[in-house]
Amino acid sequence: MSITIRTALVTGAAQGIGKGIALELAKDGYQIAVTDLPHQREQALQTVKEIEQLGVKAIFIEADSSNRDQMFKAVDETYEKLGSFNTMINNAGIVHVSPLVEVTEEDIDRINKININGVIWGIQAAAKKFEALDQPGKIINACSIAGLDAFQMMGIYSATKFAVRALTQVAAKELAPKKITVNAYCPGIVLTPMWDIIDAKMGEYHGVPKGETVKKYIDNIALGRGSVPQDIANLVSFLGSEKSDYITGQSIAVDGGVLTLLEDSFTAIGLELTEKPFKLEFSKAALTKILLKYFWSKSEKSISEESLDNSLYLLIATCSNSTASPYKIEDSSLYVLALENIKWKSSRISLRLE
Ligand SMILES: NC(=O)c1ccc[n+]([C@@H]2O[C@H](COP(=O)([O-])OP(=O)(O)OC[C@H]3O[C@@H](n4cnc5c(N)ncnc54)[C@H](O)[C@@H]3O)[C@@H](O)[C@H]2O)c1
Repeated sequence: MSITIRTALVTGAAQGIGKGIALELAKDGYQIAVTDLPHQREQALQTVKEIEQLGVKAIFIEADSSNRDQMFKAVDETYEKLGSFNTMINNAGIVHVSPLVEVTEEDIDRINKININGVIWGIQAAAKKFEALDQPGKIINACSIAGLDAFQMMGIYSATKFAVRALTQVAAKELAPKKITVNAYCPGIVLTPMWDIIDAKMGEYHGVPKGETVKKYIDNIALGRGSVPQDIANLVSFLGSEKSDYITGQSIAVDGGVLTLLEDSFTAIGLELTEKPFKLEFSKAALTKILLKYFWSKSEKSISEESLDNSLYLLIATCSNSTASPYKIEDSSLYVLALENIKWKSSRISLRLE
């Protein structure tokens, strides 16, 4: 009896998460087709070399995910050269960092073509091949925590990842009768070249040095560290395996418990700590939610309403120590004064500083 070796195509696997996934699936025994853009050839060939060292076959195919023909050809070539095709990983993606009001038509076209169209072409090419081969298959897409909860300064990126979540759901429903499952991974802060770009761009906008932005984001991860591609690859290994056969249409976070960022929370409730005098007013429920998330990240199991006053002090003190512009506050006595002015008013807290 001949045993067919499983084969996966991983887009954008020259570096970062794609490379991590390709290596993990190779360890699981898959043959791998690595695709990436021409300028990434050397790095992609390095991925291929590392996979071959694990004792399985691998090939590099130059293919731009945003180009439908190239994606279909890449799937055909994978099957022709490796003899099977079971798993499609639509990993390739790019980021865009800027306030929404500054986004241009070119920015939108560029990111949509890769992050949305690329995923659609990948789904189509894989589904048609699985159908032609009359076999089940697995399709796994790169979403993001930004596809679960949109990030400031990453508006159009978040929009593309919300789209990936929608496409994953629709494809799962449409392809289920053909025994094709479709799921997505939602990484948090993975320390790949993509995060170097995010850190640099956000740093430019906020006037903070290199490394500060990523540090601030990592500080809000419950498990206390930034992610590495292996964290994501572990989930993909499971989603590619038969153990996940009853799971479809899901976009699963692998983020170490990224908590609502304090900055995002504050901006969401309209708090401007740079202006004096300022007035802070938000619902007790909102404050409880922020504090719960924040203190949970610092290993506090729960927070009672009675301890809210004290917690607010801690929260503000923490904020005052934050290096994140524009929330840097110089005068801590300000907060002691502010605390004396906290008044519970039915369901709302009002904090005034004059
Ligand atoms: N790094 C993170 O923190 C993070 C978080 C959430 C989601 N993601 C998603 O995971 C995926 C991989 O991210 P990463 O951090 O490894 O990024 P990365 O920039 O480090 O690597 C992406 C790879 O994709 C390739 N690529 C880009 N456009 C392509 C195209 N049109 N055709 C083929 N290949 C192309 C690049 O050349 C590169 O090799 C992306 O979809 C990204 O949006 C990343």
